[in-house]
Amino acid sequence: MAILDKHKIIETNATLLLVLSFLVVTIGGLVQITPLFWLENTIEKVEGMRPYSPLELTGRDIYVREGCYVCHSQMIRPMRDEVERYGHYSLAAESMYDHPFQWGSKRTGPDLARVGGRYSDEWHIDHLRDPQSVVPESVMPKYGFLENKMINPDYMVELMETHRLVGVPYDDAMIENAAADFLVQADPDGDSDAMLARYPGAQVRNFDGQPGISEADALVAYLQMLGTLVDFSTFTPDASR
Ligand code: HEC
Repeated sequence: MAILDKHKIIETNATLLLVLSFLVVTIGGLVQITPLFWLENTIEKVEGMRPYSPLELTGRDIYVREGCYVCHSQMIRPMRDEVERYGHYSLAAESMYDHPFQWGSKRTGPDLARVGGRYSDEWHIDHLRDPQSVVPESVMPKYGFLENKMINPDYMVELMETHRLVGVPYDDAMIENAAADFLVQADPDGDSDAMLARYPGAQVRNFDGQPGISEADALVAYLQMLGTLVDFSTFTPDASR
């Protein structure tokens, strides 16, 4: 064909090929990048998303400290095998309060973005203590020591103020009640109404089943809320943007 013959002119002329390639990449780049300057926000607002409660936030810090993200992702990709295994693909809004984000880059273990509610607290405690007792072929390390490390909310205000600094919308009431909210989430006999009004959907329990609040309480509180905030039976992507 005639047009294919003409292609030879470009392919045998390095300078022309370079100039034309540059032109194509420039146009492609502009098409992708310029719309972003007119968008206020690239994260779609999604009902149900809220900042982490003080106990969940503490659990998240333990998750980061222990390097759970080295083996676990929190990012379900929109591909059929992933969605069938893990549930609805992850939305940008679901990690908008994550500093740093926990998407991960390697899956030695399964994705944890929607692990909340999939197992009982006892399962998590047994599994953290001795993963091989629940899943014999597991290569996950043992984290039983978390149950023996008692924690308190002494630095909760500072932690939440730091997150506020980077854009998490913790309001003054949340910061003022940081310590009380931390304690009441692990106390099934406490009055948790005000905490639940600030953090709708937060789960109130003695997560590790032993007296006092341990690192295991905070970590399981965090694991049990992962992926539970957005109700996907009613969620519809906003096509207007
Ligand atoms: C060396 C890699 C490795 C590390 C580090 C690791 N895990 Fe795992 N994890 C695994 C593997 C492999 C599995 C699958 C087998 C099993 O269930 O034990 C798993 C399974 C899990 C599951 C069950 C998920 C499901 O859907 O069945 C949870 C929950 C979990 N890990 C939490 C954690 C937490 C929390 C940490 C950090 C305290 C952590 N893991 C650290 C490798 C790891």
